[in-house]
Amino acid sequence: MPLVGVDVLLQQAQQEGYAVGAFNANNMEIVQAIIQAAEAEKSPVIMQASQGAIKYAGLEFITGMVKIAAENSPVPVALHLDHGTDFNQVIRCIRSGFTSVMFDGSKLSLKDNIATTRKILEIANPIGVSVEAELGKIGGTEDEVHVETREAAFTDPEEARYFVEQTGIKSLAIAIGTAHGQYKGEPRLDFERLATIKRLVNIPIVLHGSSGVPDEAVRKAISLGVCKVNIDTNIREAFVGAIRAVVQARPKEIDPRQILGPARDAAVAIIREKMRVFGSSGRI
Ligand code: G3H
Ligand code: 13P
Ligand code: ZN
Repeated sequence: MPLVGVDVLLQQAQQEGYAVGAFNANNMEIVQAIIQAAEAEKSPVIMQASQGAIKYAGLEFITGMVKIAAENSPVPVALHLDHGTDFNQVIRCIRSGFTSVMFDGSKLSLKDNIATTRKILEIANPIGVSVEAELGKIGGTEDEVHVETREAAFTDPEEARYFVEQTGIKSLAIAIGTAHGQYKGEPRLDFERLATIKRLVNIPIVLHGSSGVPDEAVRKAISLGVCKVNIDTNIREAFVGAIRAVVQARPKEIDPRQILGPARDAAVAIIREKMRVFGSSGRI
C-alpha cells in the first residue's frame, strides 16, 4: 500500500496501548529487513532515515527504496526523517515524499524550537505530513556524565505542556534517561517524569535511544504513554555482527551477497523481536 503518515499509526497505538517501532534504514538490506520483519509479524512499521543516512545513501535512493518496499507490501509503512535539525533539509524530505518528519530543535532555545516547529507544522499539516518534535536533550551514551548534569537535560513536564500548547504538535520525543548508542551500564528511566508529561500533554510520546533498554523497561514506558520506539544501534550490532562472523569464518569470500544476506537475516530477527516487545505484532 502507499506510504502512510506516522500520526495515524500512533493514534491507533495510543488507543490500543502498544508502540510502533521506528527502525533506522541505512541501506537496501536494512530496508528489506524492516519490511520482511513487519510482514512476518503483521505489524505496522516506521522506517526512518537520519541526516547521516540520507548523506550516505542519497535522498532519492532512500525515498525510492522505502516507497517500493511499502507499495509492494500489505503492511502500513511510514517514511520518517529522524533528527532533522535543518529547516531546509526537512522541506527537502517532505518534497521527496517523506510522510513524516522530526524537527529536532533540542539544541535551540525554547522560543526558537517552538518557532521553527510551528513553521514546519504550517507546511506539513495541510498536506498530511506528520511532525515529531523534541524537547529536552537526548544525548549519546558517550555524553553520560554526572547524574545532576544528566537530569538537567531531561524534559521538563511544564515546559512540555507549554510546548505542545504553543505548537499543536501531535507527537513529542522526550528525554527521560535514554541515550543514543551502546550503554555502558543499565539505563535508568525516569518513569515518574514520563507519567507526568503524558498526563499534561496527552499525545503519543516518542522514546529515542531505545537499543539496550531492558524489555521490561520498554514495556513499562509503553504502558505510560510511549507510542513510538526508536531503534538503530541494535540493528547495527546484529547486521555488522553477522558480517564479521561470515568474514571471519570464510576470509576468502568475495561475493557481497554471501556476506550481506546473513546480515539482512540477522536484522530481520532482531526487528521481529522488538516488534513483539512493543506489542505491535498482529495489529494488522
Ligand atoms: O538517533 C540517531 C540515530 O541512531 C542515527 O544515527 O546519525 O549515525 O545515522 P546516525
Ligand atoms: P539507538 O541507536 O540507541 O537505538 O537510538 C535510535 C534513535 O533514537 C534514533 O532516533
Ligand atoms: Zn534518536
